[in-house]
Order: sequence, then C-alpha cells, then structure tokens
Amino acid sequence: MRSNLEQFKNEALGAIQSAESASRLDELENKFFGRAQGEITKLMKGLKNISLEERQASGERLNQVKSVLGAAIIKKRDVLENIAWEAAAETERIDITEPALPIIKRGHSHPVTVIQRSLEDLFTSLGYMVLDGPELESDYYNFTALNIPETHPARDMQDTLYIKGHKDWLMRTQTSPVQVRAMQKYGAPIRAVVPGKCFRNEATDARHEHTFYQLEGFAVDKGINFSHLKATLEAVAQSLYGPDTKIRLMPKFYPFVEPGVRGEVTCLLCRGQGCRVCKNTGWLEIFGAGLVHPNVLKEGGVDHKVYQGFAFGFGLTRLAMLKYGIDDVRLLESGDLRFLEQF
Ligand code: PHE
Repeated sequence: MRSNLEQFKNEALGAIQSAESASRLDELENKFFGRAQGEITKLMKGLKNISLEERQASGERLNQVKSVLGAAIIKKRDVLENIAWEAAAETERIDITEPALPIIKRGHSHPVTVIQRSLEDLFTSLGYMVLDGPELESDYYNFTALNIPETHPARDMQDTLYIKGHKDWLMRTQTSPVQVRAMQKYGAPIRAVVPGKCFRNEATDARHEHTFYQLEGFAVDKGINFSHLKATLEAVAQSLYGPDTKIRLMPKFYPFVEPGVRGEVTCLLCRGQGCRVCKNTGWLEIFGAGLVHPNVLKEGGVDHKVYQGFAFGFGLTRLAMLKYGIDDVRLLESGDLRFLEQF
C-alpha cells in the first residue's frame, strides 16, 4: 500500500505539473478529489475495510498525500492564471510613448442662437412655419413692397449698405421683406416666423451694431384682428419671461402696418419696479408690430378684401442681451472667445 501510494502521489504530482490549462487542471482535480469517483475519495472509503491498527497509519499517509496534491493544484492554478494574465496584458498593452491625439474642444451655441431656437420651438407649437430669406435683398422687397416708395422719407429710418454697381441690391435692414416673399410663394392663409440677420448703416456704439438679428412673425387669414396679435404677443412674452409678464402697446409708425405699435414687456430684471436697464420705467421695448397694411397684402398677391393679417418683429439681439445681461451689443459679433466661452 505504501509504495503504491507513493507511486500514485508521484504520478499525480507529475500530471498536475504538466497541466497546460486551467480546464486540464479542473479535470485532474475532479479525477483525484471528485465526490463519487475521485481516486483519493475511493482510497479514503477503502480504509474502512482494513484493520483498525493499519487504518490509523494508512489514514495519516493518505491525508498527507491529499494535502500535498491539494496544495500542488492551488499552486499550479496560480501559475496558469498568471500566464493568462500576462498574455492578455501583452496584447492590451498601452504604448505610453505614442504621441497624444490633438484635443478637440466641443463648441456650443451662440447666445442669439439659443434665443432663436427657443422662439422657433414656441412658434412651431403654435402652427407657424419657420422660413428663411436672403440677406442680400432687393430694394423692391426691402422697401417698395413694404409700402415705402422710393421717395418716401420713411427710407431715412433705415439706412443700409448698398452693393457697388447694383443700385437695386442692398443688405436687408429687417426681416419684414420675407412677409411679401412668403405670401407670393405660399398665398393665404399663412402663418410663419423668419429669424435672421439684418444690417444697418450705424455709427456703432454699445447699443448699435451694423449687424444684428430679428425674428419676424406674421399670420394672414380671414377675420384676423388686433386682438389676435395682442394675444399672440402676450403668449410669447409669457413663455419668455414667465406667466405674470404683461405687455403694453403704444402707437408707432411703420409704413407696412396699420395701425402700428411698439411693444413693451414687464422688465424681466426688476419685474416692473424700475431699474437701470428699463430706465426706471418698469418696461422694456422688445418688438414692433401691427396689422398688415393692405398695400403689402396686395404686393403679396393676397386679396385684402378677403384676408387680413398681423405682423411683428422681435429684436433677437436685444432679447439675448437682456437674457444674459450683456451690456455691449458689439461683443455678440466680435468672435471674441473670452466673451463667447462664458455661455
Ligand atoms: N421691421 C420692423 C423693424 O425692423 C419691425 C416690425 C415688424 C414692425 C413687423 C411691425 C411689423 O423695426
């Protein structure tokens, strides 16, 4: 029994040593220690068939073999795991000497774009189309079609940049020309907003810039009246500045509307108490509006006896300045990253 056991132990150790994979080691473990058929388990069970004196000595030897083999298996498993780990580490190795990729900084929307998008969302939810128009516009659409004839003094209100050699081309001073373009293209009824860049010949200062943004809006349908305009503008003001925001309308002349108004909202900074920004009035002027002049409907090819319309124009640039507390309009078009990265 003794020499047999010794031989068994040596063979078993040899097999464990030469195991090349974890699964082969599992197989061996099962072969020696398996509950039902394991060789050591069987030898242990065999002990009960021998005499008491022999049983003690054999049992002790058997236990020794058992723990030697058990320890050998644990040790070998460690070795195999290390080999596998090193192999994986080799293929997944990171080359720390490789030059770094350039860091690409993510940009973000310009403050005027943020306002523009939120207004586009609001108006699309009210059933308006979002339209575009050309920034290089004809004299006809920018002025004449909007009820501002060539010799009319109202042209003096909006001087702009003209294109050399093309006396009928200019940089649009307002988004209103798209009213006529849209009616000509889509007819009535129509509801649309037009965000976009406008230009004027300004002596620039903290409040005036040659390039700025507006958002035009108009609705043409049967039976449109002033209360529709007022309710729409109230909804916009409240969505921008909260449900307790009020609007007030004061008469103002714009050749393409009749009647025309300038629109003011409760100052969003002092909530009507009066502050530096609203010059202590409690109100801020943020749009012009009115009912579309019959001459403009005519230019758009719409029968002014059947259809009426309202129109309004928001100063997007001004809305952005108010929202973010920007005190110099020139910063917005400056492209200065020290300014832009604050938003
Ligand atoms: N286009 C006008 C402006 O630039 C604003 C306006 C739009 C007024 C529509 C009335 C109706 O000042």
